[in-house]
Amino acid sequence: MFCTRKVSENIHWVGGNDRRLELFENMFPIPNGVSYNSYAIVDEKTAVIDTVDSAISEQFMENVVHVLNGRELDYLIVNHMEPDHCSNIMNIIQRFPNVKLVGNAKTFVFMKQFYNCCDIENRTIVVKEGDTLELGKHKLRFYLVPMVHWPEVMVTYEESKNILFSADAFGSFGALNGNIFNDEIDFDRDWLDETRRYYCNIVGKYGVQVKTAINKLSSLEIKMICPLHGPIWRCDFAYILDKYQHWSEYKPEEKSVVIMYASMYGNTENSANVLAAKLADEGVKNIKVYDISKTHISVLIAQAFRCSHIVLAAPTYNSAIYPLMHNLLHDMQQLNLQNRTFGIIENGTWGLTAGKQMREMIEKMKNMNILESSVSIKSSLNQDSMLNLENLKQSIIDSL
Ligand code: FEO
Repeated sequence: MFCTRKVSENIHWVGGNDRRLELFENMFPIPNGVSYNSYAIVDEKTAVIDTVDSAISEQFMENVVHVLNGRELDYLIVNHMEPDHCSNIMNIIQRFPNVKLVGNAKTFVFMKQFYNCCDIENRTIVVKEGDTLELGKHKLRFYLVPMVHWPEVMVTYEESKNILFSADAFGSFGALNGNIFNDEIDFDRDWLDETRRYYCNIVGKYGVQVKTAINKLSSLEIKMICPLHGPIWRCDFAYILDKYQHWSEYKPEEKSVVIMYASMYGNTENSANVLAAKLADEGVKNIKVYDISKTHISVLIAQAFRCSHIVLAAPTYNSAIYPLMHNLLHDMQQLNLQNRTFGIIENGTWGLTAGKQMREMIEKMKNMNILESSVSIKSSLNQDSMLNLENLKQSIIDSL
């Protein structure tokens, strides 16, 4: 049965949720599921803006057919060609054989790559930056926002109601629970962490391009932001824009400390806990301590984007950095993390090299400050290493 919601007069949410999928992109855990948002505009002409993942095709098609109420579909706008949004293009063509596909030049290159069996030539409308499409009372204008999150991505601005269909931008992990608007939910409590985790891991690498897109769209009057995942924004734009400004410029949201440790027998873990307690004694708030062997890397990345200070604690392993810590640092490099202060704790019973190697990996990232007061633990904390830990704490406090 159809399951839709009205977004605005003659504009409908026709997406759906997947609460069964374990891993988004076969990589990121989504304990709260994920929504695939799609929107239909019913005017003199009818349009659907993006489709959904193949997991919810049936629901989506029912939704579209319901809101069209016997009408034909004139246009399918394809803002993004990643399969979580474009998997139902062929279903749409089969159900509405006269539909025109609206995208930019790159959209159709990717469409042919994904769906090489389909003849789409006679149904494409290729748009460029600023082109418009009249539906009747509604008028769509298209803006290209490459690399937010793929090169072909564009956003669609509906001019009569000032609605921005923002593709992946402003999206979030998490299934929608009937409430699809940000003023129907406690975003800060229930959604911020997953929105941050989505942004940092999916789009985090492309901060420059996100910033460019925000600047390009800043002159538009916007009354609603309709992303492809997660809640629709219809108020408090300054809140989410502020988050996006921090994330896209790699500026920490908070002066706080995240301690990420790898520990085989509990001794490195002990140093992380001792440091956290010392920092808390000094008044540092919202400290987070993570065992990286038990925490998905996407959570660690999101916390690295949140905090101004990151302490990495790891043993030497095979004369190198403990592999999971190496992987974490590699991911930070890949996602272009910048502008953070790092503390380093290494451990080893013999041949300590992890600290030096972690430092070298951090130095390859932009504008990172590595505190001189590092800590070397020989097997377990002793008086000397406790003194070094105290110095590291003080360096963190001094630089907060
Ligand atoms: Fe939700 Fe880049 O796709």
